Amino acid sequence: MTFLQFPNGFWWGAATSGPQSEGTFDKKHENLMDYWFRTKPEDFHNQVGPNVASDFYHQYENDFKLLKEIGLNSYRTSIQWSRLIDDLEEGSVNPEGLAFYKKIVQEAKKNDIELVFNLHHFDIPIELVHKYGGWTSKHVVDLFAKFAKCAFTHLGKEVKYWTTFNEPIVIVEASYLYGFHYPKYFGHGKEAAQVMYNLNLASAKAIAEYKKLNLPGKIGIILNLTPSYPRSNSKEDVYAGHMADAMLNHSFLEPAVLGKFPELLVSTLEKDGILWQSSAEEMEIIRSNKVDFLGLNYYHPNRVKAQEQELDLQGKWIPNIYFDDYKKPDIRMNPYRGWEIYPRAIYDIAMDIKNHYGNIPWYISENGMGVENEARFLENGQIQDDYRIDFYEEHLSWLHKAIEEGSNCFGYHAWTGIDCWSWANSYKNRYGFISVDLETQNHTIKKSGYWMKKTSSANGFESHYEVHP
Ligand code: BG6
Repeated sequence: MTFLQFPNGFWWGAATSGPQSEGTFDKKHENLMDYWFRTKPEDFHNQVGPNVASDFYHQYENDFKLLKEIGLNSYRTSIQWSRLIDDLEEGSVNPEGLAFYKKIVQEAKKNDIELVFNLHHFDIPIELVHKYGGWTSKHVVDLFAKFAKCAFTHLGKEVKYWTTFNEPIVIVEASYLYGFHYPKYFGHGKEAAQVMYNLNLASAKAIAEYKKLNLPGKIGIILNLTPSYPRSNSKEDVYAGHMADAMLNHSFLEPAVLGKFPELLVSTLEKDGILWQSSAEEMEIIRSNKVDFLGLNYYHPNRVKAQEQELDLQGKWIPNIYFDDYKKPDIRMNPYRGWEIYPRAIYDIAMDIKNHYGNIPWYISENGMGVENEARFLENGQIQDDYRIDFYEEHLSWLHKAIEEGSNCFGYHAWTGIDCWSWANSYKNRYGFISVDLETQNHTIKKSGYWMKKTSSANGFESHYEVHP
């Protein structure tokens, strides 16, 4: 056993989002998830929607007490565009929404918890999708910048950490390429490429608004990285890995940190006739509004091999024409979520950021393990989630190794603090340090919550994992 000490001031925290925790309040605007659930509840596990979620809207005081009790010193949630804004075209404030988010700011402060406010977590107001085509529209990009400005103006003096988007690549994949979020398009390559570009532009425009206000904090973006591990060292497999990284990881990482798009991505989309529409002025906005820091979500790696078959896409486009999933034998899986467990990738990500992205300050903004039917682990009123503690300790051991080797990582946020609602999976898999009883809405600390308390107060833990890169 070795005690792993983390740097002074290290963030021990957790992340959630507005739509997944709050419960629907103020129905002035529906967001995409509200609408999707209202019109197609059968798409959601047990037909449970976001209406109540984990009732953060009513329970935030008690929730912050619990988060404090488990030793968190930082916490990310998101401000919902559909709740903060009154007139979407004007970007004017909705007093009810603002009053709620102000209470969140106060409560975090009262509990000595550093708040990170994120501005978009898959929750575009649905009328902007129906009226303008959502993120395919540059008008929507400008409306987002107005929303961002409104949030910064009203809350930017007190909140020191802001992020523009959570996992923007998921919007591209889920709504336009693979069809698992509303409007569930499959293979809409041209729109997907435009959405990819527009989201990068929207992030840069929001950063520009932030800078204009001369606020005392920092602004970043939250990206989910799924590093590619090719099947072999063959030229074809390695190329497949480069392509997957260019499309799924570097498409947001490079613009955010380096202010430009990857050449491989641009040349491929151009060759395929689906490159986005851009202007020199917009490219300059992206170039001159890079992030101050990164939040990186890590759940699983991407095992790839060369694409050996000609896909019969009938005019559709998906990036998988350039790579294929590789079913690697003998991997560890989280069977509930169907994701591979591969903790070493955290070290690889950290080294990649150090070596290729100027060692920009960053933190793990999500990492976690969703487990189904956790009630079976209930003993004397407490969920005994030892598997989750093991999962965190193993990932943190690799992160610690990277920090020892000079990675500029300043924190670790688990997904999630309090069990929350999820897109389509609803409450199937639970991830929290704190459990939610959906019938009573009682929130109760799990064993992992007490593990987090001990870890954050010691700023480290005794690890039995040997990590050798
Ligand atoms: C991340 C998202 O991709 O993973 C969260 O930022 C999400 O919103 C989390 O809930 C876990 O994924 P899922 O699909 O199991 O809820």
